[in-house]
Amino acid sequence: MKKILILGGTTEARQLAGILAARAAVTLSLAGRTESPVAQGVPVRSGGFGGAKGLATYLGEAGIDLLIDATHPYAARISANAAQAARMVRVPIFALRRPGWEPVEGDRWTDVDTVGDSVQALGPAPRRVFLALGRQEVAAFEAAPQHHYLIRSVDPVEPQLAVPDASYLLARGPFREPDERALLREQRIDVVVSKNSGGAATYGKIAAARALDIEVIMVRRPDLPDVPSAETVEALAAIVNQFGVDHLVEPAAERGV
Ligand SMILES: NC(=O)c1ccc[n+]([C@@H]2O[C@H](COP(=O)([O-])OP(=O)(O)OC[C@H]3O[C@@H](n4cnc5c(N)ncnc54)[C@H](OP(=O)(O)O)[C@@H]3O)[C@@H](O)[C@H]2O)c1
Repeated sequence: MKKILILGGTTEARQLAGILAARAAVTLSLAGRTESPVAQGVPVRSGGFGGAKGLATYLGEAGIDLLIDATHPYAARISANAAQAARMVRVPIFALRRPGWEPVEGDRWTDVDTVGDSVQALGPAPRRVFLALGRQEVAAFEAAPQHHYLIRSVDPVEPQLAVPDASYLLARGPFREPDERALLREQRIDVVVSKNSGGAATYGKIAAARALDIEVIMVRRPDLPDVPSAETVEALAAIVNQFGVDHLVEPAAERGV
């Protein structure tokens, strides 16, 4: 059986692993930052590899035939490492690149390049801010202690923010628009800071902000390496099929799906 390493941490990575595991030995790699990740259904390894070189060594030692980068669109470092490592050891690589959200009529987006820029974009006057960002990034908002922050994360933010007025919400998506609307209203939020994650699971807050005429400060996506890619799990599974490392995966029709 051919061996596939999927760099994951996303719902799509888990779904892709499930599809490909029928025909190949799939290992899913997680960064290891979430304390209790959801069950992945295939063998999992966890934690960094030690840069591109470490990943290249792993690919060689584990005898990986195909590398798939299905990480979060903001996980730019691991994506760059993956492209570099694949080149180093000549292992083919494909990426799953979920398309970003596009603004539609009624959206009030302010686009910024980095989380640091989003802190500035809040402005000097106190506001009620919903931070739907990774817990590693919220520390940047200590630079603007005049605002009230509502911070939602999968794992607790520790240490808590050194600001006088912050509240915390532990939750894991998907989040539905009506619930997001209720949350924004109850908490009297007047600005949302978000990454342009794409996909349906976290779009609820964007749609809710539009419905309530609330500004969204949207952190633009980082540049990612140029490797063969697809936008959906199904499309990437089809590419892996066509690529067929010694008929790595049979066509979907033959699997009866
Ligand atoms: N990773 C995700 O799937 C994910 C999910 C949700 C949100 N995000 C967001 O993406 C941004 C950056 O996240 P990040 O720190 O995970 O990515 P990153 O900055 O690209 O990665 C930093 C380091 O973490 C390790 N790493 C990351 N993903 C890995 C994986 N799948 N398997 C093994 N090691 C991995 C690598 O360490 P070594 O160099 O030692 O190999 C990598 O160099 C944050 O904004 C975060 O909130 C990421």
